[in-house]
Parts: sequence; structure tokens; C-alpha cells
Amino acid sequence: MAVDILIGLQWGDEGKGKIVDVLAPTYDIVARFQGGPNAGHTLEFEGTKHVLHQIPSGIFHPHIQNIIGNGVVLDPIVFRTEMQKLQDRGVDAAKNLFISKKASLILPSHKVLDRVSEEALGSGKIGSTLKGIGPTYQDKIGRVGLRVGDILAPDFKERYNKLVERHRKTVEFYGQSLDLGEQEQTFFEAVDYLRSLQLVDSEYMINEALKSGKRILAEGAQGSLLDVDFGTYPFVTSSTTLVAGACTGLGVAPRHIGEVYGIFKAYCTRVGSGPFPTELLDEVGEQIRQAGREFGSTTGRPRRCGWIDLPTLKYSIMLNGVTQLNMMKADVLTEFDTIKVCTHYKLPSGEITDQLPHSLETESLEPVYAELPGWKVDLNLIDSIEDLPEAFNNYLSFVEEHLQVPITIVSVGPDRKSTLKRDNVQVG
Ligand code: GDP
Ligand code: IMO
Ligand code: MG
Repeated sequence: MAVDILIGLQWGDEGKGKIVDVLAPTYDIVARFQGGPNAGHTLEFEGTKHVLHQIPSGIFHPHIQNIIGNGVVLDPIVFRTEMQKLQDRGVDAAKNLFISKKASLILPSHKVLDRVSEEALGSGKIGSTLKGIGPTYQDKIGRVGLRVGDILAPDFKERYNKLVERHRKTVEFYGQSLDLGEQEQTFFEAVDYLRSLQLVDSEYMINEALKSGKRILAEGAQGSLLDVDFGTYPFVTSSTTLVAGACTGLGVAPRHIGEVYGIFKAYCTRVGSGPFPTELLDEVGEQIRQAGREFGSTTGRPRRCGWIDLPTLKYSIMLNGVTQLNMMKADVLTEFDTIKVCTHYKLPSGEITDQLPHSLETESLEPVYAELPGWKVDLNLIDSIEDLPEAFNNYLSFVEEHLQVPITIVSVGPDRKSTLKRDNVQVG
């Protein structure tokens, strides 16, 4: 059996949580492979909305094993709160949740480092979620970080103190002092809780599951344009958000990769700083924000909104080897008479291209738009693919033709049920 992977193709918040939850019943295992509490994955069903940060989105299906892989940076405090919330809603996640002993630990001091580092960047700040992601990955790559398995060691406290001392010096270098207050006690209580859970060598668990024919879905966090190598650097996150990250973040060999679901909105959003060629700073952007309720699931920040950008989608599809596309939130565009689609960029030299320049940051790009008729029908009321309006079908075909990958799922609302499957679509 293969590992299928679901990846965001834009700047995150494409609707990954919803689709993982929808696809989950056909899998035995759902695994997160990178990121941490910077993620906010929303699921809606039976009239209730759930936001998950570190726990995989298969958790509401009791027969599915959910794994937090080695590539994840885990904040025990946030994690305990998440588990408690699930408990309050009657979900006993401890039974079907497994945590890699190699996952990295986010310490309270990592969050302080995130804040002081952002403050020092001033107007050039990344717009981090301030969850300690960057500093924790820095420690991992710098080979000084702590991992989940370390909490089982008798000298864990000393190793914790040693790392915090390093952090203290760095915070002082920024001209501030490290005062963790009650956070330390909360951290150690959360670590005690973590110790009581199923801590595993998840690379063995996953590879044995593969051998025995189990189906695995890897759930990406963030989006391809936030990837540390190929995203809009330096305005990116600190992990490999691409398919390649699932190999290193779970211990899966590339030859075991099966379907790659690439998920994108019918328009585009971004939260935090950095380039966004199709951003709409006018009332159209505001209209999308309101209709799409585009406010961050993790930080509540208003998301920047703009038209769909095909050159970036082509780029993400290329980097991930996407085999199926999922278009999300098409229902949000109901009110518009026409819908714009960025097909190319015009460079300052006058050249028209559909490729991304080395840096979106330094190149001033002018989006080249095609304008398509809007559908003016509330897609949320439609529950069969056959009943989709012609203008919307034309929009789908236009995007599909450009991207040369079939759109197999169209999502028309936040609820699990508002999901239309398109079988047997051929492109090209
Ligand atoms: P993720 O981080 O990729 O899981 O996405 P988020 O949960 O951060 O953001 C997606 C938001 O859009 C959530 O509030 C979802 O409930 C909502 N959503 C998902 N799919 C649809 C859809 O098709 N239509 C509408 N209107 N909302 C959707
Ligand atoms: P999900 O999984 C959208 C953005 C932040 C910031 C940049 C770096 O819900 O799609 P970080 O905290 O990682 O240092 O922030 O990345 N960012 C996200 N934007 N969705 C996310 O996750 C994000 N996770 C991080 O806003 O611009
Ligand atoms: Mg999100």
C-alpha cells in the first residue's frame, strides 16, 4: 500500500482539515508530518466546529489511528488544552493517538524567542504566529533541541534547564530578559500528561502498517508557498511543507508515495507578511474576506484576500507532483458578476511569464488576468455535481485546463456534507 498525501498549494488555510476529515473514513491511519501549533485546521459536522492545531484531523473517527510524526514541533501546553477540548466534547483521543518520540518539543522559552526575534525585525517582521515554531526548528537543525522521547529520560529536567540557559542568553542578546513566570510549571504539568500517552517509534509503526496493507493519509500543514525552501522566503514557515516533508517527517521512502491531493481555494488568501501578487486591497478583497469569513483559525488575524493565482498553483503542483486537485470555498464567490483569474505575470521588462521569479519579494510583478462570468448561484445549496451552474463549470474547466490536473473534489461549504466529488474527470 502507499501513503497518500494532502498538501496545501497556497499560503495555508486552504481547508486541509475539512478534506482530511472527509477522506479519513477510507484510511486506517492519518499522520501529521510537519509544523505545529501554528496550524489551525477547521472541521465542521453535526452543527459543531472544531479547530485542531497539532492533533491530526482523523481524530474524530475512532477506528483511525492518528499519528503526530517526527517532523512535527509539539507544544505540550497547547497539546494538553487541545486534548482537554476534545475530551469535553466526548472524544477520547488518547486511545487512537500516537506521538513520535522523535517529534521536537516547543519550550515556553521558544515562544519568547519567537517574539523577541519578530520585535527585532521591526517592519520586516515575518508575521509569525508566535507559537515558537522557528526557534524550535532552529534548535532541531542546530542539534541542541529536545524531543518527545527525552521526557522519559531521568535527566530531562537538567537538559531542559541547559537549553533554557542558552535561550536566556539569546533573549538577553536582544536586550530583553527571560521571565517565564508560571509557564514553566504549566509546561512540566503538560509534560507529565504527555508521558501518560502512547509515545512510539512512529517510523516503524508506519512502515509496518504499509507492509500489512493499511491505508495511510499524511496531512500537510501550512501551504507550499510557505515552504522554507520554495516559499516566499523569508516570509515562510520553518519546515518543509511539501510532499518531500512527508518522507522526512514520517520516515516514509519516496517510492511509497501514492496519490497527492493538492488543495486550493477558488481565490487566494495569506495571513502574515510577505508578497502576494494578486492581493486585493480594495472593497473586493473586503467582500471576499467577509463572505469567506477569512480570519485566522489560530490567531484570529484578518486574512489578506485576492484572486486565484495560477502561476503559483502550477509551481506548487510541480513541486509536489500533485495527482488530484481539490477546489475549496467556491461558494464564497457567489456575489461577483465576474471572477478574475491570474494566468500570467508581467515582469518589469515587459516579459509575460507563468513562472515565478527567484524572489517574489524583490520583483515587482503585475498579474495578468482573464475575466470569467460569475455564477451568481449559492453553490452551498447544491448537493449534486450535475446541478452545478454552467458558469461555475466553465470556471472549473478553465482552471483545470491551465493546471493540467483533474479537480476531483469541489467544496461548497465548511460542513463535511458540503463536498462534491467529481469522478472520472479527464484533463488535456
Ligand atoms: P486549513 O488550515 O487548511 O485546515 O484551513 P482553515 O481551517 O484554517 O481555514 C479554512 C476555513 O474555511 C475554515 O473556517 C473552514 O471551516 C472553512 N471552509 C472549508 N471549506 C469551505 C468551503 O468550501 N466553503 C466555505 N464557505 N468555507 C469552507
Ligand atoms: P495552516 O496549517 C496560514 C504563516 C504565518 C506567518 C508565517 C510564519 O492552518 O494552513 P510561523 O508561526 O510558522 O513562524 O509563521 O507562516 N503561517 C500560516 N498561515 N496557515 C497556517 O497553517 C500557517 N502557519 C504559519 O502567518 O506568515
Ligand atoms: Mg488553518
